[in-house]
Amino acid sequence: MHVIVIYGTVEGHTRKIARNVSATIQSLGHQVTVFDAGDLGDADLDLADAVIVCAPVHMGQFPSAIAHWLTAHDSALAELPGAFISVSLASASPFPEEHAEIQKITQTFFGQTGWHPVLVHQAAGALRYPRYDFLKRLLMKHIAYREGGPTDVTKDHEFTNWNALAAFVTGFVEHCTGQAGAKRQAV
Ligand SMILES: Cc1cc2nc3c(=O)[nH]c(=O)nc-3n(C[C@H](O)[C@H](O)[C@H](O)COP(=O)(O)O)c2cc1C
Repeated sequence: MHVIVIYGTVEGHTRKIARNVSATIQSLGHQVTVFDAGDLGDADLDLADAVIVCAPVHMGQFPSAIAHWLTAHDSALAELPGAFISVSLASASPFPEEHAEIQKITQTFFGQTGWHPVLVHQAAGALRYPRYDFLKRLLMKHIAYREGGPTDVTKDHEFTNWNALAAFVTGFVEHCTGQAGAKRQAV
């Protein structure tokens, strides 16, 4: 099976997630192409058996480059099993209302793009203080303080549960290989 992994990122953590997803797929014996939605090139979906989209939430929204890519490829994507990995700090929050909010943002995104993946994973992202400019660092530190999160701005703080991510990807690949077998038999 050949999986296309497409991601968007602002501070780089979703790229790290996409690469981790890719490593899991390869460890399961499958082919993978990782692709940045912000790049000029494009992924060849004719070669794909499945698609995984990884996107971070910034100011309550997923990157527009991902939304554009999904709408531009809507007919090809309708033929492929898809999984969505949402990356946010809300997923690391102790407050249930933040989790509900991120679910709402995710569902709105699917409504806007018309893309409906078979599986969705809410991954906790990272605070990458050293990469932020002064104002962003101040804002993120304030939010982290309010939520009881880390406020040491001299380093990155990762909240991603890498085992849960690998289990999600493995489950999706198993789902697709079942489907891929059925598709090949049907042809
Ligand atoms: C300016 C800014 C705004 C953010 N807005 C949100 C938000 O609205 N909701 C949320 O859950 N996380 C928010 N985050 C957290 C990001 O989703 C998290 O840092 C993620 O790891 C970023 O991924 P990236 O490094 O791939 O851009 C925000 C982060 C920054 C820096």
